Amino acid sequence: YVLGVDLGTSAVKVSAMDRSGEIVAQQSFDYPLIQSRPEYSEQNPEDWISGTTVAIVRLILDDHIKPAEISGISFSGQMHGLVLLDENNQVLRPAILWNDTRTTKQRKEIEAKLGNKFIDITKNRPLEGFTLPKMLWVKENEPNIWSKAKTFLLPKDYVRYRMTGQLAMDYSDATGTVLLDVKNGQWSQEICNAFDIPISMCPPLMQSVDSAGHISDSYAIFSGLDTHTEVFGGAADNAAGAVGAGILSPNMVLSSIGTSGVVLKYEEDPNVDYHGVLQFEDHAIPASYYSMGVTLAAGYSLNWFKRTFAQEQSFDEMVASAGDSPVGANGLLYTPYIVGERAPYADADIRGSFTGVDGTHKKHDFVRAVMEGIIFSFRDIMDIYDQNHKEFDTVVAIGGGAKSPLWLQIQADIFNKKVVSLTNEQGPGMGAAMIAAVGLGWFKDFQECAEKFVHFGKSYVPNPENAEKYAQLHQIYSQVYEQTKSISQ
Ligand code: XUL
Repeated sequence: YVLGVDLGTSAVKVSAMDRSGEIVAQQSFDYPLIQSRPEYSEQNPEDWISGTTVAIVRLILDDHIKPAEISGISFSGQMHGLVLLDENNQVLRPAILWNDTRTTKQRKEIEAKLGNKFIDITKNRPLEGFTLPKMLWVKENEPNIWSKAKTFLLPKDYVRYRMTGQLAMDYSDATGTVLLDVKNGQWSQEICNAFDIPISMCPPLMQSVDSAGHISDSYAIFSGLDTHTEVFGGAADNAAGAVGAGILSPNMVLSSIGTSGVVLKYEEDPNVDYHGVLQFEDHAIPASYYSMGVTLAAGYSLNWFKRTFAQEQSFDEMVASAGDSPVGANGLLYTPYIVGERAPYADADIRGSFTGVDGTHKKHDFVRAVMEGIIFSFRDIMDIYDQNHKEFDTVVAIGGGAKSPLWLQIQADIFNKKVVSLTNEQGPGMGAAMIAAVGLGWFKDFQECAEKFVHFGKSYVPNPENAEKYAQLHQIYSQVYEQTKSISQ
């Protein structure tokens, strides 16, 4: 077997998979977020260790997975979170997570100091969620802790360290620190110098499929695992999610609707320049990359609508009711900026809107408008690919948007592309297991592994008439941001 450890923000899920790509057993364990002040979001790294270990122990004891039969383990990790270690590799303070936004001041300082040079080196803007602004926050606000910090890691790297005793970070997660010189594949001396960060704090880099050694004696005693089990680098959750959805070539784009939404494209060329409007990261596959735009309130928009206006319906009933409203929701348009927006605007202050509200509108028109508005915001990201002459022919839909045939068709019509779902969608944990399977040499590459592990379901093709209507509506949608920016407060 291989184990895929999906270290998420609310829980860890560990999946045991066999060589045929079947999930043999799965266990998960929740842990809390510490949100002691507005904008703060932290977690105790020890909770990741206990949660992951409990899940593994349950796989062994409850699901009868024999430790001797576990050949490899790898990871998918929540991105960007800062774990600071002292000279004895002890954790110095709670981890500051990707969704912690206390760092606007530091973001602005980085932008003012390095401007476009920063984007040239890291391929990204220094957004609040990323790791470097968090390091600068600790340096400024907790100098005593900073002075003791000898190494920084990201969340899943800390779990890997506790399993193996080796400090390391894989490239796909390292890009998200915005301390990596992406084209040269090494930590950026220039950025470290500019912000007075000792480059020795940056851990050794490895590929996702590289071996980080074996389960240590101490972790074997703690968890019941066997010391012959090999541990592989693993990847950032978006990279692992892309692997698990078969996004392994440039003609494939991922459309993922969770709380937030992600449009992600496989990229071959690190010289592509999206000017920081899209995130650009190393992929889990050696010498390849992905670009990504995030819609902050995707599933969150629909959950908000249900909680506020449709409590009497089940979620599925509410989504299905959108089928009673025609394409374009009878002229009702929704922009999903209800918690601000990341791509393409990087605007934390913008807020959402319904426009064109008419006395004849019914609730199902609102539901459809919300579902369409989320996909229009994804279309904004796809348009950036068009503007950069990036061609692709297939969109793989995962998450909430892949559960409803109606929403899958809306995606095909708004994107004007073929949309496919997966029959065995497992999220990033599947990608993590695939990384271990490729690392062990079970398959010659990810393509061969995906043939066993990733199964595409039905295809949804655009209806030309609907696609034409949506193209016109998207033009109007695109104007709403500029028109409402000055009145958002
Ligand atoms: C990506 C991002 C989130 C986290 C969630 O930049 O911030 O998608 O990866 O874990």
